[in-house]
Amino acid sequence: MKVLNTALANTLLLLSLLPVSLAVKAGDFKTCQQSGFCRRGRALAARARESADTWRSPYSIDPSTLTLSPEQASFTAGVRSLLYPDIKFGLDVRVHDDGVVRVRMDEVDGLKKRYDEAARWALVSEPSVSREIKWTIGKTDARAAYGKGIELVVEFSPLRVVLRRNGKDQVVVNGRGLMHMEHFREKVEAKAVEGSEEGSDEQTVMQVNNNRVWFEGDEEDALWEETFGSWTDSKPKGPESLSLDIDFPNHGHVYGIPQHATSLSLPTTTGENSFFNDPYRLYNADVFEYVASATTSLYGSIPLMHAHSADSTVGIFHVVGSETWIDVAHPTEKSTDTQWISESGILDLFILPGPTPADVFAQYARLTGTAPLPPHWSLAYHQCRWNYVSTDDVRGVQKRFDEEDMPVDVFWLDIEYAEDHKYFMWDQKGFPDPVDMVNDVAAVGRKMVVIVDPHLKRADNYPVYKKAQELDVLVKQKNGNEYEGWCWSGSSAWVDFFNPKSWDYWAALFKFVKGPEWSWTESTEDVYIWNDMNEPSVFNGPEITMPKDNIHHGGWEHRDIHNINGMILPNVTSRGLVERGEVPKRPFVLTRSFFAGSQRYGAMWTGDNLGTWDHMAVGVKMVLANSIAGMAFSGSDVGGFFGNPEPEMLVRWYHVGAFAPFFRAHAHLDTKRREPYLLEDPYKSIVRDILRLRYSMLPIWYTAFRETSVTGLPILRPHYVAFPSDPTGFAIDDQYYIGSSGLLVKPVTRPGVTEETVYLPENQVYYDYFSHRVHRGAAKGKTVTVPAALHQVPLLIRGGSILPTRERPRRASSLMKNDPFTLRVALDNKLSARGELYLDDGVTYSHREGQIVWREFTAQKASKGKGVRVGSRDLAKANITTAVEGAALSIYDEKNAFAKGLDGVRVEKIVVVGLSGKPSSVVVEGGASLQWEFTAGISGEGKKEGAASVLTIKDPGVGVANDWSIVINI
Ligand code: GLC
Repeated sequence: MKVLNTALANTLLLLSLLPVSLAVKAGDFKTCQQSGFCRRGRALAARARESADTWRSPYSIDPSTLTLSPEQASFTAGVRSLLYPDIKFGLDVRVHDDGVVRVRMDEVDGLKKRYDEAARWALVSEPSVSREIKWTIGKTDARAAYGKGIELVVEFSPLRVVLRRNGKDQVVVNGRGLMHMEHFREKVEAKAVEGSEEGSDEQTVMQVNNNRVWFEGDEEDALWEETFGSWTDSKPKGPESLSLDIDFPNHGHVYGIPQHATSLSLPTTTGENSFFNDPYRLYNADVFEYVASATTSLYGSIPLMHAHSADSTVGIFHVVGSETWIDVAHPTEKSTDTQWISESGILDLFILPGPTPADVFAQYARLTGTAPLPPHWSLAYHQCRWNYVSTDDVRGVQKRFDEEDMPVDVFWLDIEYAEDHKYFMWDQKGFPDPVDMVNDVAAVGRKMVVIVDPHLKRADNYPVYKKAQELDVLVKQKNGNEYEGWCWSGSSAWVDFFNPKSWDYWAALFKFVKGPEWSWTESTEDVYIWNDMNEPSVFNGPEITMPKDNIHHGGWEHRDIHNINGMILPNVTSRGLVERGEVPKRPFVLTRSFFAGSQRYGAMWTGDNLGTWDHMAVGVKMVLANSIAGMAFSGSDVGGFFGNPEPEMLVRWYHVGAFAPFFRAHAHLDTKRREPYLLEDPYKSIVRDILRLRYSMLPIWYTAFRETSVTGLPILRPHYVAFPSDPTGFAIDDQYYIGSSGLLVKPVTRPGVTEETVYLPENQVYYDYFSHRVHRGAAKGKTVTVPAALHQVPLLIRGGSILPTRERPRRASSLMKNDPFTLRVALDNKLSARGELYLDDGVTYSHREGQIVWREFTAQKASKGKGVRVGSRDLAKANITTAVEGAALSIYDEKNAFAKGLDGVRVEKIVVVGLSGKPSSVVVEGGASLQWEFTAGISGEGKKEGAASVLTIKDPGVGVANDWSIVINI
């Protein structure tokens, strides 16, 4: 079965060379100290600190230039710097309809142009400016009051922007005077600073020079060229960095700015006793064997930060595509200072006023969009490995899953399927019959995902490359020639996806019909795509990526767009997938690199983690950080990419994966095979149960994905999101809620554990998902102990929730389409509960035409006695609107064929947990008496912990898509 194809042979050769060129890597990536503009930005902050009493920002607004827009809703103004009186900057301040503030600043009539297109890639559309806002322009500031107690103040001299709510400062920009937009200059200008300036008298020159030294330091630092290792960055445009201080005087926690391997509440990077020494770096990078706790940049960058306190959440979204470093300090326990230092680009800052996390999510979603509903199968289990080496290998793996009754939906092919790593071209040796293989996998509704990386082998027999060359859509070196670098395919070139000409070409590659262009005829609609290495990863490039002076479409340097680069490939790939068939189907594209807005194009994963407990634990936190920054569909490699996890670790990792939105096992070429069926018992049976658990919960996950697609609320909700006013939860990042379902999970990420503690933030009853044991929280929060032996995952249902599941074990999720449902009704302290179920065909866009089922299940105390009524109603026709415009909740179609098709799908079981006594009868309203079983337990407020009472109603004879009501008489 092991066929050594040519691509695999090449990879093995490449890997054997790698330890020399790719060994651990601290030295391969810059620290702030090794990066000229970061050094300059931090030095500025240090000077400001040293002379805090006298330090004053040199930037100010010239009030005479302030111009209000005709509706007076926004204004522009000229900004000057004391240091460079001849340089002009333009400021633009506006407030959107939803209260979000946008502050833009750019150099005006500069020698060159700063990159100003980052927002074009990140935003869904240009937000509309509020017409309600009226500015009051005074002598020293401009003010606007709006919303619930919000006041926005733009102070003129020095320039400072403050957002207040109810008189309390929420966000202060340039309060510490660290704003500095380095203007474009001639190289000789530096000398002019030392001597005399034309047209100025000596005194002014000296004053200006003193100011410059005071503000910028007394020597030029890496303005025109910079070396790192053997690399020289030529910096043809000279210095153009941007430093900005953004402080949150009343917020003690900040979150976001993924991706970093750190805790969710971001530790300090500067100031006394700082936790890390380097700022958080955003510079998309392929970091080999990354450290499990560091501020080092990883594969993706989202310049979005939440600042949080018990009574307020605000957000900062600084849309910049260049390398950015962010320092975080807590001057007091209840305040946070940050400094953002970017290498190039304009200042384009969105201030999201909150005041709750839910508001901030809606505000951010209105800007960058939501994660669309993915195909249903993509929420199931994915089996990947580098590599399944042949079509028979894939068939063999599928057979073993089936023999062991382990559900799986997707088999993945890594780079070795491709002849010489020429993506789209099957290696005939191992993959002579790719379409047959895909059809064998698809026979039970399974799918395949195949990797397509952005590096194109520079080979004459590679039509994909030749076509890109012909269209002139490849990235160029600074001298205008095609850029050549090394990646998996050896000598490679990179498509410049910033060039619109590349989009049709790339999307057309996925078509099955041979047209005039090259297209992928040896594929089917069951093949989906994995886009990797899109930071881009260049093995022999500076910091394993492209030189910053490479040139992209429009003449922009790679430095300007580096962090955006990774998002366009999955964008265009997903377009290709939608357009390839006759009926458009929802795409699935996995990306490694991402930027703000990438959530619109598919799933992401946390890259090449290690098979260690530390990596497992930090992976949970990273997925949470991605989730709150819009990347709802995320996960990390189950098992760890590198290494051979022992069975205990692998089992725990399956629990971590089963409770992440994206659930995929993956492993490096050098690792031992570790498909779950290879485990010995009891590990094997435990993993089988975990897979089945995930499958049974697919209705919950799908409902949560639907919710995120229309509201922007994350699927995984950390404590500060779920309970924003409970400070005890603000630093908790190892347990989280799943959507609005009421499920609270804490995957175990340590060895040898038999019990785990779970924090309950409220005076509410929680039930163990498996045993129905009662755990009671307390108003001020309480930690409870739950069993967590290897086969157990701490999973609690919050009282007041109703969970729909499908409990029949199946080989693949497609086979569950007509399976009946179980409803778990977990009553709260007041004997009520609520839950939702969303269903559609899971594949096409017919949900946008109202082909859906969207139900609300409720339970409440019956009007008489101690009984409870459980019911189901149609939410699709309830005309509910969402917080995010453009994401119309549902178009209701009464005759909706999809819902009709589910007429025969029953609720086969209702489990009611937490009744206060044994029922006397259970009846369908207006119908029959039902069969039931009851196990008594403890109940009622104040009772100690123990097993809850459980009523099981078997076959209640109600349809999942119908209205009904069941009365439990007690
Ligand atoms: C990168 C990816 C990894 C993949 C490998 C080969 O390291 O992160 O998931 O298996 O490339 O394609």
